Parts: sequence; C-alpha cells; structure tokens
Amino acid sequence: MAEKHDVVIIGAGAAGMMCAIEAGKRGRRVLVLDHAKAPGEKIRISGGGRCNFTNIHAGPKNFLSENPHFSKSALARYRPQDFVALVERHGITWHEKTLGQLFCDHSAKDIIRMLLAEMQEASVVLRLATAISAIEKAASGFRVTTDDGPIEAASLVVASGGKSIPKMGATGFAYRVAEQFGLAIVETRPALVPLTLDPVQLEKIGELAGVAADAEARCGKAAFREAVLLTHRGLSGPAILQVSSYWREGAEIVLRVMPDIDIGSILKGMRRTNGRQAAHTALADILPRRLAQFFTEEAKLAGRMLADLSDKAIDALSASIQNWTLKPAGSEGYRTAEVTLGGVDTRALDSRTMQAREVPGLYFIGECVDVTGWLGGYNFQWAWASGFAAGQEV
Ligand code: FDA
Repeated sequence: MAEKHDVVIIGAGAAGMMCAIEAGKRGRRVLVLDHAKAPGEKIRISGGGRCNFTNIHAGPKNFLSENPHFSKSALARYRPQDFVALVERHGITWHEKTLGQLFCDHSAKDIIRMLLAEMQEASVVLRLATAISAIEKAASGFRVTTDDGPIEAASLVVASGGKSIPKMGATGFAYRVAEQFGLAIVETRPALVPLTLDPVQLEKIGELAGVAADAEARCGKAAFREAVLLTHRGLSGPAILQVSSYWREGAEIVLRVMPDIDIGSILKGMRRTNGRQAAHTALADILPRRLAQFFTEEAKLAGRMLADLSDKAIDALSASIQNWTLKPAGSEGYRTAEVTLGGVDTRALDSRTMQAREVPGLYFIGECVDVTGWLGGYNFQWAWASGFAAGQEV
C-alpha cells in the first residue's frame, strides 16, 4: 500500500519550502522529500552566510527567460515586501547592503529556521535523506517511489533546483522529470559564474590576480556597473558574474574601468601641473597601483614622464583602460555557478500556477524553471514567488 498525501514536493530548498507552507496553510496534507540530510542548504551558504533573501527592486526586468513575460504574474502576487513582512514577523533583523539587496543582520540560518517553523505551523511533513528512484502517473495523481517505499499524491511539485554546485547535491533531476512527462527544456548553462581566460591572456594579466576595480562590464547590450576582480583563472566580481549570464562562447567582454572618471583629462591636467611625474605614478593616483603599472607597460609608457606624452598617447592609454576588451575562453562551470540559466520551458507551464499545461497536477517551481535572476537577491525572490504561486493551487 502506498503512503498517501495531497501534495508531494520534491526539494526542501527555498521554493519547495515556500510552496509547502502555503499549501499547508490551505489545509492540504503536504509531504516534502529531499535527498539531502538538511533542508535549505543553499540558503545556508547564500550571501556569504547572511542570505541576500530578496531585492526590493525585483521585477520582471531583472530576470532572463526565453519568455520575459512569464515571471510577471508570480512576481506581482508575492512581492519582496511580503517576504520582508514574514521575516519581520519572525523577529529577524535585516539591512540593505547596496542596490536594494536585503541581507540578514545575523545569519542565513535564521531564514531556514523561519521556514521550518512556518512549515511546522502548517503541519507539513519533511522527510530528508530520501532517495527517489521513480515517478509515475497513478490513478489518483502521481506515484513517487522512494527508498522508504511508494508514496501517492494528487499534486506533485518539482522544486529540486538547477545544476549549480553539484558538490552540494544539485542534480538534473527536475529536467529529467520534465522530459519524462513531455515538457520541453530550454538549454541549460552555468550563470552568475566567473569567466576564465586562455593561458596567453592569463600570462599577460597574471600579475593582476587579486586586484579589484570599480568598472562597467559589458557583453553585447548587457552592462553592469559593480566591482570587477581579476583572478588566477580570469575574471570575477559582481559585475562579471552579472554579465556572465549574457555571455556566450566567442563573445567579448568590454570593461570600462572607473567609468565616472575622464582619465585622459585628468592625466592631461597632471601633465600641466607636474609634467616630471612618471606616467605610471600619475595613473596610480586614479587606479589601483598594479593596474596602473599594467596599463602603462601595455602602452609601452612605463618610466616615461607625463611631459613626454602626446595628447594622442594619453588618449590611447585612457581608451585601453576604459575600453578594455577581453575574450573569455569559458566559465568556471557549474562547480562555482550561483545559478543555472535555462530549464523547464515556460511555454509548458501556466504562469499563474506553475502547473504543467498538459499534465494536470504536475508543477515546477524555483530555479529549475527557465527564469533566472540577476545577482542580488532576485533568485530567492523568484523561488519565494513561484513557490507561493504553486502553493495556492496544489
Ligand atoms: P534549491 O537548490 O535551493 O533547492 C533544491 C532542493 O532539492 C535541495 O534541497 C536539493 O537537495 C533537493 N534535490 C535536488 N535533487 C534532488 C533529488 N534528485 N531528490 C531529492 N531532492 C533533490 N540567490 C539569492 O537570491 N541571493 C543570494 O544571496 C544567493 N546566494 C547564493 C550563493 C551560492 C553559493 C549559490 C550556489 C547560490 C546562491 N543564490 C542566491 C541562488 C539561490 O541559492 C537559488 O536560486 C535558490 O536556492 C533556488 O531555490 P530552489 O528551491 O529552486 O532550489
């Protein structure tokens, strides 16, 4: 005899727990299954341990999807303010770090404790360390085979996340279930991920590993202004992670270092007032010292005095800094990617409920869906909002 519930949710992550809470509050008998030993592991490590749990500016424009309209309904029905109200009800204090990004003052574990308390209040059953070997359609809905035995439920919610950080148990499970039931998948790739450079470029910038600078990183039409970090493998830092979601093999990344400053004018001014100063010393007043050294060497101006530089030479030096073009060889992949781009094709889902159009009772929520947020709390907001949407319906 199979164990029976109204709703089975696979994945005790952000989306699955939110969905469970909402369904439980409606009186549905909910079972959450996870193969991990602990719930919300990605919440625990997120935001450097403080969980950037939402972004007050979150809207459809902050998400990548083949259908940019898909996220509208769910995002409108569960807003950042709704999550903030929940957090405050649980006495969790928070702060805005920058750009609308809200973090816990104390620890990401507070968010996990809050979700578990809400689940308990809504009589949700959580079963961890449970492997799922098969899913089938059954007369009454779905039959899930686990190493603990079979379970049946009228509604099945797949909330098992994407492929990022396989070391933490991320699998392509959701995509396999989608394919099994005939739903299309938008090709997946690592996103919010550091980009790597080939050995020739690395040798050139190797000395710069560890240097960070304020920059605008551009790839095609997408541009993000935040810090860029040069590493032993290539490019990282928030501006690079953001633009990585738009980058494709063969494309260039253009960095505008210190975008608010007209470097050429400043150097020309310094040439008037202190022409005997070395070019790299003058530039080090504007840029991190190692970057200043690098750009003057690249321009073959190392050791030259400002007074010796023509306007043309200064303009060329300034352009090399503010139009710095690099061609990444690849990305660091799912090993370090914060999220997975692509996923369950939104054309197969109802945007109000997250239910598969052709398979009544089957739902997909969170990161496994082809809705991917920018860096900065947007991905959790999508997990809460899509979990909430399905939770009203299952
Ligand atoms: P999530 O991955 O959270 O949960 C899926 C669950 O399903 C897991 O518990 C997993 O064990 C389980 N599962 C997987 N396969 C299974 C299977 N076969 N059987 C049973 N269970 C299975 N976002 C943000 O907005 N702010 C932030 O600060 C950060 N920070 C951050 C840091 C790092 C290092 C990473 C990797 C990611 C972030 N993110 C983030 C992104 C964010 O963590 C992510 O978008 C959400 O966790 C997605 O929530 P889901 O519930 O969809 O999946």
